Amino acid sequence: MKLFDVYPLYDVTPVSAKGIVVTDDKGQEYLDFYGGHAVISIGHSHPHYVKRLEDQLHKIGFYSNAVQNPLQVELSTKLGTLSNCNNYNLFLCSSGAEANENALKLASFETGKSRVLAFNNGFHGRTSAAVAATDNQKINAPINKQQKVTFLAFNDLASFTTEIEKGDVCAVILEAIQGVGGLDEPSTDFYQSVAKLCKANNVKLIADEVQCGFGRSGKFFGFQHHNIQPDIVSIAKGMGNGFPVGGVLIHESIEAKYGMLGTTFGGNHLACAASMAVLEVIEKDNLIENAATLGEYFKTCATEIPEVKKVKGRGLMLGLEFDFEVAALRKKLIHTQHMFTGGAMNKNLLRILPALNITKQDIDTFFNALKEELK
Ligand SMILES: Cc1ncc(COP(=O)(O)O)c(C=O)c1O
Repeated sequence: MKLFDVYPLYDVTPVSAKGIVVTDDKGQEYLDFYGGHAVISIGHSHPHYVKRLEDQLHKIGFYSNAVQNPLQVELSTKLGTLSNCNNYNLFLCSSGAEANENALKLASFETGKSRVLAFNNGFHGRTSAAVAATDNQKINAPINKQQKVTFLAFNDLASFTTEIEKGDVCAVILEAIQGVGGLDEPSTDFYQSVAKLCKANNVKLIADEVQCGFGRSGKFFGFQHHNIQPDIVSIAKGMGNGFPVGGVLIHESIEAKYGMLGTTFGGNHLACAASMAVLEVIEKDNLIENAATLGEYFKTCATEIPEVKKVKGRGLMLGLEFDFEVAALRKKLIHTQHMFTGGAMNKNLLRILPALNITKQDIDTFFNALKEELK
């Protein structure tokens, strides 16, 4: 059997990784400023993470959600405390799309309505309702297009108000900082007005924190830069540092009913151990503070590069915008400078999504390499 060929691959075969260094099958080392697409939060093969997973594997790796799993309780308690979201309850699943799928389903259950408001350039995953709320027709099949979704522009409050007041909307879903789209953000005023209008119209506000959550933006959650309280928060990516784990934080005003949501793999023992390890390292090493400080340092360094037209993002969710497409530059950074970076829907944007424990020296190394390639 061959692989179903859906990914255009770079010709690099990583076989090991430590911190932000990834080594390929020929022994070549690469610096990882991409984090496997914002997934690596505490660094590859962090010793505490490896030990936590190894110890757990020797005890029990999986049992179904039909029995007690104290690790889930431990995880929800720790997550509530570190994120300052103690007035939410946690449902665990295994990916970002699944988190958003559950979030949208909950909003529909709770309000009895079905239309979704989403935003231009937003990305929420590739499954049923999540992909329908993703502003990319190319990845929506006819079966997905049956969903009722209206796309709007960030900061256009008049159009938003008209749509939400029609009375058929169950959910508004948005990323506090757009990832795949290219690091655009709503203004605080707009975000706060959206939250207010959701309350007034019995609509659930879903913050998709799959990419900008878990400390990446310099606060635990991206929406926390705007002083709002979403009804539902979806999480994944950095939550497991590579272990497939996701979840939804559900405001305590939404009541759980048996059978409402469910999953085979979500919240298994290994996934909980991985996520606990991530939270423990984030807390012990002050990684959210580090993301905020180094994000500012990165922005300062970027101002010294004339080819950079705009620096976007917050914390260690960053982008450099040029007046040319960056695909060739990314290739050169990989093959000549041995550095992984990311792209976006905005083809002129180079995305930087490293582990949250990188250093100033790593950032200096990145900019020296970038300057070389821009010569
Ligand atoms: C903001 C956002 N939401 C959802 C997803 C989907 O996550 P997953 O690929 O784990 O299904 C992504 C993935 O890039 C994302 O960036």
